Amino acid sequence: MDAEITRLKSYRSSAAFRLGPRSVLPAIVIAALCAVPGRAGAMERGPRGDVQAKLGYCMDCHGLSAEGYHGYYPIPRLAGQQPEYLENQLRAFAEHRRTNNIMFNVAHSLSPSMVASLAAHFKGLNPGPIGGGPHDRVGQGRAIFQDGVPDSNIAACSACHGPEATGYGEIPRLAGQLYPYLINKLTNWDKERGQIRSRPDTSAIMSPIAHSLNRSQIEAVAAYLSYQR
Ligand code: HEC
Ligand code: HEC
Repeated sequence: MDAEITRLKSYRSSAAFRLGPRSVLPAIVIAALCAVPGRAGAMERGPRGDVQAKLGYCMDCHGLSAEGYHGYYPIPRLAGQQPEYLENQLRAFAEHRRTNNIMFNVAHSLSPSMVASLAAHFKGLNPGPIGGGPHDRVGQGRAIFQDGVPDSNIAACSACHGPEATGYGEIPRLAGQLYPYLINKLTNWDKERGQIRSRPDTSAIMSPIAHSLNRSQIEAVAAYLSYQR
């Protein structure tokens, strides 16, 4: 597992270097942030310092403004995410209700107070979307988001996710989420979420909707959401 994280992280830094000087600086800043705990040694670190160090770790993968990252795996945007949703998903990874090896490893060691501090921080970030969806599908996607697909009994996404796709409580913000991440989640819903059958969770609400959407509808709605602010 640690090897997988190291591989993903080294992939991230090599990609940053390939992109040129603009992204080299943030990589150095991250390295400095990550190095703090090691250097501190016997020095007392307050909770603030711990949160900063942990944030540096999250942003190494999720992007400097938590805008997400198009890499070998799509790494989702966390900026502007609803704190309740974010906290519930971190618990879900740690409890194996939601499967993802990388995020299990990240989440299982986080204390509830650390999770709350991180969630509050991400909620306050508002970088522009990095987009990525095909522009010619945006119109169809907007129609699905706002009106659903009445012929297939698919409810309007906006009914739960909000007219601006900013989410509410344990219902996530989708605005500005990465195109490949959205496609991946909607395609694999039942393989990743609600994995403890004896303990159904909020993922059951989305399950029939993810199932009913066909590939073309998923692509359209993901394209629309990837450009939403
Ligand atoms: C080594 C890379 C890596 C690091 C470090 C990392 N993440 Fe992640 N994170 C991922 C990937 C990849 C996913 C997508 C998992 C999936 O596809 O289900 C993810 C998903 C998530 C999700 C689910 C988002 C959603 O929309 O459902 C949350 C929440 C999250 N990460 C929070 C964090 C926090 C908080 C930290 C720092 C403590 C962190 N991550 C550190 C790679 C990373
Ligand atoms: C009845 C309410 C409801 C409706 C309607 C709904 N959703 Fe959801 N959605 C949810 C809930 C609740 C979650 C959080 C699931 C969890 O906790 O795992 C969710 C999660 C998601 C996620 C995962 C986001 C992430 O960051 O991983 C995506 C993608 C999504 N919904 C897309 C859609 C789309 C597209 C539509 C319309 C076709 C839609 N939803 C309609 C309630 C709804």
